[in-house]
Amino acid sequence: MLYIIGLGLGEQDISLRALEIARKADRIYLENYTSPFLGSLKKLQKIIGKKILLADRDLVEINTDEILQKAKKQRVVFFVVGDAFSATTHVDLVLRAKEQKIKTEILHNASILTAVAESGLSLYKFGKIASIPFLVKGWLVDTPYDILKENKNAHTLFLLDLRPEEKMFMTSKQAIEFLLEVEKRRGGRLFSEETVCVICCALGTKKQKILYGKAKDLVKKTLRAFPQVLIIPGKLHFVEKEFLETFKI
Ligand SMILES: C[S@@+](CC[C@H](N)C(=O)[O-])C[C@H]1O[C@@H](n2cnc3c(N)ncnc32)[C@H](O)[C@@H]1O
Repeated sequence: MLYIIGLGLGEQDISLRALEIARKADRIYLENYTSPFLGSLKKLQKIIGKKILLADRDLVEINTDEILQKAKKQRVVFFVVGDAFSATTHVDLVLRAKEQKIKTEILHNASILTAVAESGLSLYKFGKIASIPFLVKGWLVDTPYDILKENKNAHTLFLLDLRPEEKMFMTSKQAIEFLLEVEKRRGGRLFSEETVCVICCALGTKKQKILYGKAKDLVKKTLRAFPQVLIIPGKLHFVEKEFLETFKI
């Protein structure tokens, strides 16, 4: 049996049902490359009473069979920070399990994809999600900018690259600079220093911060809580605007 379990965003957001399953599990993995666990692993292990093995990208995406072979005979739990299916890679894991006739169960939890509503922006008015990658010299990545264009009046959520194993997190400042750079090249008049943005840091934790303001003012802020997302609001309803004003810098 393979359980894919969302841990939510905070340190102790694991659900009661998930806790029960984890306590009976033979093996527990924590996927730690698409999103970092923002709590103490030691504490979580103590609550569950079991050792948790960290699963890196190679194990999950290349050596998938190592997990699946165990799940054929044992109860295997695969923890994902946030919601179980909000990173594309986990759908693939379940698909492979299904192909091998391994029973699966999915337990959902809060995700950054819904937690951003704490900014006051309506989830119903978001467009396609974009991811901003760390830049590799010589590579031009325009997809995030194209998605911003495509989203028109809808809000655009930008997920920012991270490498939790190396404690590397893209800052919202880097994300803004990334968009300014593409704008300079493309000249589509989609983004400028005057563009109003929202930044959310470490949502769902005690360190969380939400800031709203112009890009040129936001880049001056030093934000040490990670991970972070950048949102470019589209057309605002007056209630959204009123709510956002409470985060104005
Ligand atoms: C690929 S997504 C994974 C989402 C996760 N599985 C979930 O459901 O929340 C990871 C990205 O989401 C954003 N993110 C994740 N957790 C966050 C948090 N608590 N606060 C702000 N941004 C977060 C960061 O931009 C990070 O790079």
